Amino acid sequence: MIIKYYYILLLLVILISCTLSLNIKPQNKLNKPKVNLKSDQLNVHIVAHTHDDVGWLKTVDEYYYGANMSIQFAGVQYTLDSAITSLLENPERKFIYVEIAFFERWWNEQTSYTQQLVQQLVASGQLEFINGGWCMNDEATTYYDDIIDQMTLGHQFLYNNFGIMPSIGWHIDPFGHSSTMASLFGNMGYDAFIIGRMDYQDIGERLINKEMEFMWRSSESTPQYQIFTSVLRAMYCTPSGFDFEQGDPPIQDDPTLFDYNVYERAEAFVQVALEYATHFRTNNVLIPFGCDFAYMNANMYFKNIDKLIEHINANSSYGINLLYSTPSIYIDAVNRAGLTWEVKTDDLFPYADDQYSYWTGYFTSRPALKGYVRQNNALLHVMEQLLVTSNSQSMVQDIMVMRQAMGVLQHHDAVSGTEQQHVADDYAERLSIGNTATLQTMNQLVGQLLQKGKTAAPEFTFCPLLNESICPSTNPLSSGSSVPVVIYNSLSWTRYEQVKIPIPLVNVQVTNSSGQVIPSQILSYSSNTSILVFYVMVPPLGYSSFVIAPASNDDEDATKLENKYYSKPVKQDLIVLENSKVIALFDQLGNIMSITNKTSGQYINVTQEYLYYLPSFGTDETTQCSGAYIFLPIGTTAYQYNNNTPGITVSQGPIVQTLTRYWSDTMIQTYLLYVDSDHLETEEVVGPIDISDGIGKEVISRFTTSLQTDQTWYSDSNGMEMQKRVINYRPSWNLTVVQPVSGNYVPVNNIAFIQDVNQQVQFTVLTDRSRGCASLDNGEIEFMLHRRTLYDDQRGVGEPMNESTQIITTTKLIFHDISTRAQSHYRPQAQSISNPLYPMFTTTSMSSTLWPQQYSSSYSPLTGDLPEGLKIQTLQWVDSTMDAVLLRIQNIYQLDGQDTEDPQTVQIDLSQLFNSLKISSVTEMNLTGVMKYSNINRLQWNTTTPLPTSKLSKVFREKEDSQSSFVYEISPMDIRTFMVTF
Ligand SMILES: *[C@@H]1O[C@H](CO)[C@@H](O)[C@H](O)[C@H]1NC(C)=O
Ligand SMILES: *[C@@H]1O[C@H](CO)[C@@H](O)[C@H](O)[C@H]1NC(C)=O
Ligand SMILES: *[C@@H]1O[C@H](CO)[C@@H](O)[C@H](O)[C@H]1NC(C)=O
Repeated sequence: MIIKYYYILLLLVILISCTLSLNIKPQNKLNKPKVNLKSDQLNVHIVAHTHDDVGWLKTVDEYYYGANMSIQFAGVQYTLDSAITSLLENPERKFIYVEIAFFERWWNEQTSYTQQLVQQLVASGQLEFINGGWCMNDEATTYYDDIIDQMTLGHQFLYNNFGIMPSIGWHIDPFGHSSTMASLFGNMGYDAFIIGRMDYQDIGERLINKEMEFMWRSSESTPQYQIFTSVLRAMYCTPSGFDFEQGDPPIQDDPTLFDYNVYERAEAFVQVALEYATHFRTNNVLIPFGCDFAYMNANMYFKNIDKLIEHINANSSYGINLLYSTPSIYIDAVNRAGLTWEVKTDDLFPYADDQYSYWTGYFTSRPALKGYVRQNNALLHVMEQLLVTSNSQSMVQDIMVMRQAMGVLQHHDAVSGTEQQHVADDYAERLSIGNTATLQTMNQLVGQLLQKGKTAAPEFTFCPLLNESICPSTNPLSSGSSVPVVIYNSLSWTRYEQVKIPIPLVNVQVTNSSGQVIPSQILSYSSNTSILVFYVMVPPLGYSSFVIAPASNDDEDATKLENKYYSKPVKQDLIVLENSKVIALFDQLGNIMSITNKTSGQYINVTQEYLYYLPSFGTDETTQCSGAYIFLPIGTTAYQYNNNTPGITVSQGPIVQTLTRYWSDTMIQTYLLYVDSDHLETEEVVGPIDISDGIGKEVISRFTTSLQTDQTWYSDSNGMEMQKRVINYRPSWNLTVVQPVSGNYVPVNNIAFIQDVNQQVQFTVLTDRSRGCASLDNGEIEFMLHRRTLYDDQRGVGEPMNESTQIITTTKLIFHDISTRAQSHYRPQAQSISNPLYPMFTTTSMSSTLWPQQYSSSYSPLTGDLPEGLKIQTLQWVDSTMDAVLLRIQNIYQLDGQDTEDPQTVQIDLSQLFNSLKISSVTEMNLTGVMKYSNINRLQWNTTTPLPTSKLSKVFREKEDSQSSFVYEISPMDIRTFMVTF
């Protein structure tokens, strides 16, 4: 009996706590403590902090425990132990903490007593979480989905354990800053964005002109997410002379002892503070005390800072008020000054720290890891959706390992490629473990989804190496079994696209879920693997299934098939790939010459070359080398990468026509034109890069076109808004050109294009991973595909980036019209390349007509496609206990002032969204889903240019949650976040 009551009680407690956690507190930003600020003095805000890289020279776990001290003396567990102890010793002290990946590890090891003490420190404002993502993410090479996910993961942890949400973005180390990051912080409800690195020419001017703080209105489409931005005076480490943990003189304040120095040290610090203050406009200045992995011995810092504060504040002749502070206290003080701030609209790429050192190499460094991150993002989103639509909340626990691995990978030394080799291996392993766990869960789930009546749930397998044409799941075909393939579509509109599946045979037949045979083609074949291609129609957030069966009564034998479809060497002057929409011409070496829109007759002359830059190894002028971070070519010349004539094969089939150029096993290019497509695709095999000649290489693909591009090109910002780029030019400051090649490189994550405004045409390139891109001359655009450099670039990683990986990368090349709705030609395609159709395999001995009848062979939880332009960006359980789902809707179009029809705000009725799930409540939230949207109360600022009022009606939305109706409007490029219960 007692046990039973106990259970009922427990159930009640769980029920109550579930309800409570849904009932989001009205004000859950930090309660800022009262601090003593002086209006007539300089307030020096000492921010005690530690910058803990979530992997870099050591792996994330090595950093946590403090293993491998010979590489770097760093152990985050000691830092947290030590800093917390120091805070408890003196209530005046404050400390900030940033990286939740580490904090969560530490928190889980603490007793509930210690946890309570820490909660009190947070409540009193002594310990403040700043930024609060799983890591401090990179801004150049991350995809917006991944940034949002990793911030959400950290914020959920903080909300669950402390009931708070941070209010400041603190990206003091990332190597340049993206406009998307700024507007995402705005959408989270942050008050400010504090950064450390800015181009040396830009910051040089700003220091002189006191322009270290400004309003960053980074998105034309969503200016309401503008964010006040503050640049640190001199990066994020303690001013020199005051790093008490690393051997700088302690404050010696007993006059009876030798080496009494408190006056001298105080005087020196006052000079530093006054110098810092000359670059800022208010009577507040922020001085960081800390650095990478600082505060392992927090007492060494705090004890001396205590004395500095005490001494300086006691001496009124200094006229300075020193205080323990935090970024949010500092920003509040700056805000209260009530000044009017300049508005900045362009982004902060590329970043250079001197004339030889453009940090534009990491846009491309470790492209295999960059691709693997994107692939796993796509998989995780498939999984998250399936967990919701199949109502399998408890399984969220099984994919936490994947959520966390993806969180770790967004760190600015992870996906950026700027870590040591053993750390890169550790990152890949984490993803692989997450991937395996996700697929295991997916297997259970998909089987249940398909199960109908009494039929047993089928077992599913997956082909994570599909892009390398490895797919053991189709092996049963060779022993006569059929292989049903369930194709999942994670986008919110019906897709009619081709899939490519490696199979061990050539004679097969594909049937759809109505049991009808559909056209298919063997794309290429070798002795044991052929690539089967067919078109599939898949409903939104759902799947269709197809059965691949060995063709029993095939009248075509293998030789005939070979003659008909298989690739063959060609000897022709002109090679043509053509379907009903497009003609692409190539010369006899397979060099592309032109792409023509058959309907309009418009064409573009385009050539493409593989070239390489010679990485600097510290020659004549400078000792700077090209390396993991920095791209520094010797001279401006790019050399031919392939010195031999490629072998050319062409295949012409009913589904796709291809042209393959083979130089060697380390350089292969295939152009593909699918029958129903209006654009070309290329698949490139690049690497390992040959260094047998003793030199590194930075390999690029350069397109040269006949377009008049006016020195201008465009690249996306983390997959979101396009950034206008002009050769040798920065919109907000006067650039002195010192590096004509690397100084023009910018990151591309998904979309880049050049356009000819007179002809009203555009050449768009969509990439499957992040890389560097530049236009160095009119009509040109180039992409760095891979790089291998043999020297360290002296920015800390301490290793050459001598990586011998091979990548297989897919790119779409779209030549299109821009007279109307230009974005419709590439935005949905860009989503497709980032969220590929996901195939899942099973096996059966049933006939191809029977199988689809025995199972739920096609499915969508939605009532139909979302309205044009809208995408369900997130559909996931908050966690395994809270009975609520996070739903984000994004408008994938942006305002760009180019379209004759500007993209519109689109309405959606959430109650009409799902057919299988009935929504019972909708609460609009901040972007990370931890705070009610209506409770966001951002600081207000005066700016030199007011928010554009003409657009206000489009971009500002109602703050009230209307509970009677679930109709919402999503303006261009906006993402709205909802907490939904069913
Ligand atoms: C494109 O190339 C063709 C053949 O070389 C040439 O006749 C034509 O003038 C070129 N068009 C443009 C716009 O450069
Ligand atoms: C750039 O230089 C020009 C000419 O010297 C000057 O008029 C302009 O104000 C400068 N722009 C900025 C942003 O400093
Ligand atoms: C090709 O031209 C037709 C007719 O002008 C146009 O409707 C279509 O959008 C064009 N295709 C692309 C990809 O721009």
